[in-house]
Amino acid sequence: MDSMAREHLDNLWAPFNEARVYPLTKEFTFAVSGRLFIGQHSGSLSPERRKIEMEYDHIGRNDGEANCQDLLGRLLMASDEDGKFIKEKDIAITIAGILLASSYTTNNTTTSLVSHLADHPHVYEKVYQEHLEIAKSKRTGERFIWADLQKMKYSWNTVCETLRLTAPGQGGGFREVIDDFKFESFNIPRGWKVRYIVCQTGAHLGSLIYNFLCCARH
Ligand code: HEM
Repeated sequence: MDSMAREHLDNLWAPFNEARVYPLTKEFTFAVSGRLFIGQHSGSLSPERRKIEMEYDHIGRNDGEANCQDLLGRLLMASDEDGKFIKEKDIAITIAGILLASSYTTNNTTTSLVSHLADHPHVYEKVYQEHLEIAKSKRTGERFIWADLQKMKYSWNTVCETLRLTAPGQGGGFREVIDDFKFESFNIPRGWKVRYIVCQTGAHLGSLIYNFLCCARH
């Protein structure tokens, strides 16, 4: 991931005065998801993915030597309680779901983050300084690792604040009501299916919880 980020920034951001953030981060997050989950390097997955599936089908399922380090490998090698392999169609649905769930959320968050940083130069400066501190602690070519990220408290809080202010998705989910409850003037009975929508819950913007506008302005 470190080398992918370096390559992406060096080739597609650094040489230019302007960058179109959304399409660039989309390309990057999709490529990272592809790499992590199906061992793919490129953003264009469809024909290549089919090829990989066929290869795994041949190698993995026949002699058990498939690369099980990524999600696709694990799914191809996994079997149900009767010892049967998971159906290809179910594997494809799972992979497509996780590629989307992981890439568009991160892409949207990164784009909003860059926008917030542009709006708040003093926050940008602090994030930049924190990045410089980490960069200074590294030898040339040394990789950025999880432990570095954990040290970057200000940058992490800036991402969290971005998530709070700008929900990265319009989606939500269904929940089954396990007990009767009242919401405003509505009685919601046990057994109903209710749907929450992330960007409309408003809890993260509620003035009762947050009585300040944005940590970025302090
Ligand atoms: C800013 C980033 C992300 C946000 C805001 C986000 C948000 C969400 C939300 C709201 C749900 C529904 C949870 C629920 O119904 O209880 C969800 C589910 C899920 N997300 Fe994410 N997600 C993010 C990143 C990711 C990433 C990076 C991955 C994969 C590595 C991922 C994989 C999934 C999966 C597999 C589910 C379904 C979980 C289940 O049904 O048990 N998400 N995500």
